Amino acid sequence: VSWDNIDVHTMMLADEIRTNTFREAIERMVKPGMRVLDIGCGTGILSFFAERAGAANVYAIDSNPIIKTAKALAKKNGFERIEFIKTSGRDFELPEKVDLIVSECLGHYVFTDALLPIVLAAREQHLAPGGHVIPSRVVLSSAFVTSAPNDPRIDFYDAKQKHYDLDLSPLRTFARGRFRKLRIPKGTLTKPIDMGEIDLTRAKTQPITTSGRFALPAPVTVHGLAGWFYADLAPGIVLHTGPDSPPTCWEQTYFPLLEPTVVAGSGQVQIAQVPTDISAFLRWSIEHDGTITANDDLVQLHLISSR
Ligand SMILES: C[S@@+](CC[C@H](N)C(=O)[O-])C[C@H]1O[C@@H](n2cnc3c(N)ncnc32)[C@H](O)[C@@H]1O
Repeated sequence: VSWDNIDVHTMMLADEIRTNTFREAIERMVKPGMRVLDIGCGTGILSFFAERAGAANVYAIDSNPIIKTAKALAKKNGFERIEFIKTSGRDFELPEKVDLIVSECLGHYVFTDALLPIVLAAREQHLAPGGHVIPSRVVLSSAFVTSAPNDPRIDFYDAKQKHYDLDLSPLRTFARGRFRKLRIPKGTLTKPIDMGEIDLTRAKTQPITTSGRFALPAPVTVHGLAGWFYADLAPGIVLHTGPDSPPTCWEQTYFPLLEPTVVAGSGQVQIAQVPTDISAFLRWSIEHDGTITANDDLVQLHLISSR
């Protein structure tokens, strides 16, 4: 993600489910006089909600020059109690502890924005005893995708005909070795697999690997995995991004397999991250009948080393 691209921020702001669910949670949790830290403030939208809900001081941090725009928007809208701090989030000082940390730290399958570790470290350093975190908990799920979703970015290389009379097939591995943001039709998914949860109020570190066990009543042809999450933002306020819920800007995360594979019986699914400083790649595998079907690690490593 390029955070100085306005289109990315527009996509997030235009997602009213995302933005209004955060707004409701902030309105529920902020009491007049509270001190709030907004991690990865972007355009400043969550800080604006916090000040409007009565926060005495809001500290809004972001590593990207977009923070200048947030400052300008605050001025334009008459917000006066927000201090903007440009920082990578790893080492920053605040003049006081805060009562609430809010962060839209939710990338694809949660991890790709690499913001979660920043939130967990900031909680240890900056949250006053008894303080709260939005989101407080994230729950991850996956399911097998039993028919190939349409995606021209992948299908291009699956086409039988040659492009430009050239054999481009080595690129197919790259196209299928990357996760994709995609709306996965519900009817093409098996029963959800529980991939675990993260308690943002307690966890010291983020999980690198998530995994879940499955037991299939009958063999299925698997084209890939779908992954998604829901996040508890405040008591009774949940942000859903699953295939059963109205679409959000996350859609679902599609993890294609190199080839359709018949999976039967029981086994384990793993979706793990390969973290980098500013992002994280994801790798995935299905273990069944003693065999492991996975995306190609070399593809991921190539992508990382070429950054
Ligand atoms: C998902 S966007 C959320 C923006 C805004 N809070 C919203 O809800 O529209 C994440 C923001 O975190 C910022 N960010 C990413 N990594 C960061 C880091 N290590 N430290 C501070 N900000 C970071 C990005 O620049 C981006 O603006």
